[in-house]
Amino acid sequence: MSSTRQGTVTKEQLAINGGPKVRITPFDKQGNRYAFNELKYLKEALDQGTLFYWQGKKVKGMCEQFANMLGVKYAVAGSSCTAVIHAAVGAMGLMPGDEVITSPITDAGSLIGVLYQQAIPVFADLDPHTYTMTADSIARKITPRTKGIVPVHLTGNPCPMDEILQLARSKGLWVVEDCAQAIWAKYKGKLVGTMGNAGAFSFNEFKHLACGDGGVVVTDDEQTYRMCHLFADKAYDRLGGMRAPEFLAPNYRMTELQGAVISAQLERVEQITGGFRKYGLILREGLKDLPGIAVPKDTEGGESVYWFYLPRLRLEKLSCTRDEFAKAVAAEGVGCGAGYVPNTVYAQPYIGEHKAFRSSGLPWSAGNNVQYKTGDCPIAEAIIVDSIYLPVSDRLSEQDARDTVAAVTKVHDYFYNNGK
Ligand SMILES: Cc1ncc(COP(=O)(O)O)c(C=O)c1O
Repeated sequence: MSSTRQGTVTKEQLAINGGPKVRITPFDKQGNRYAFNELKYLKEALDQGTLFYWQGKKVKGMCEQFANMLGVKYAVAGSSCTAVIHAAVGAMGLMPGDEVITSPITDAGSLIGVLYQQAIPVFADLDPHTYTMTADSIARKITPRTKGIVPVHLTGNPCPMDEILQLARSKGLWVVEDCAQAIWAKYKGKLVGTMGNAGAFSFNEFKHLACGDGGVVVTDDEQTYRMCHLFADKAYDRLGGMRAPEFLAPNYRMTELQGAVISAQLERVEQITGGFRKYGLILREGLKDLPGIAVPKDTEGGESVYWFYLPRLRLEKLSCTRDEFAKAVAAEGVGCGAGYVPNTVYAQPYIGEHKAFRSSGLPWSAGNNVQYKTGDCPIAEAIIVDSIYLPVSDRLSEQDARDTVAAVTKVHDYFYNNGK
């Protein structure tokens, strides 16, 4: 590895032009993330002779463990975060035609449940530095039909929850926090997921903690807990001993196997998320003074868990496009992509062209015909096209982080000094 200083990089030195790479050996995540108590708890699950959550102890135990760790009263497990967000918005009493405000940059899982309940997603623009929705941007999207907010703690950085909750309370709206990317992130000392009416977490393979696929929703409210339970299990009232569904609900149950694995993963949450944060902070420190790059900021009072790192390029100061920059960094032998997602959620056909339920036009065609267009969330649209994606992991080494900094710096210095 070699570090570079501004003004010293020539065209020929860039690896993409045949120059020496910053990093020769491939990035290799260290160790097996499932090599701790996972096998022990999986065996215990199998030894029970049942893998059904209501008969076994693993899912129930994991829910109790997670609720205790977060300091909340209740947790309900599901097959994914998508599933438990659906359960949560259903539990909130979302009705067809109601509007829910969420992030224009997020995974479809934030709004799939909203759409399945025949409700309408509406998008609040992001802060240009923290990439979170703000109380102001949400306030601008509130209409008489708005019922709730799904703040997304994007990239692992918490939303400004004080302002969002204050707004929600003043307007009588519920809040379901989407914590899929942010387990163990803190806002003013509070863990994300514990501030809204409910908080939803993902344990899919790519998250800080994983079990292949799984999700958990937490809440302090007993009624919300009971409703989430029903929504995740065909509206069979197992808590009340009844099996006569009073409304339509999917089978989003978690099996004992997933419960066992999450239990083991939760034991290491501090260590794992601490590793992500440490890696993210090396990137931030290393890149923060480059004049052609704007590094993301932590929300005031927040502590990000850096699920990935998304600096923005100041393209007006660089003699390249974002894609050229990302390709040149990747050619240096470190992980780098052109942004996080290709476009905003509302630019995708299932939303933007009202194709969620194919040609029916539902849920919009049933009466609340909200339209979406380019320009709805200009800051989010800018982030989509000027950011580069740098992977973060607790299982990558400090050297990996430093090489990433060196590669970005090298490419930056070339494009910063040549041509503009
Ligand atoms: C912000 C956000 N919300 C929701 C989800 C959905 O999670 P899952 O894959 O567990 O359904 C994801 C997954 O990537 C996500 O990043």
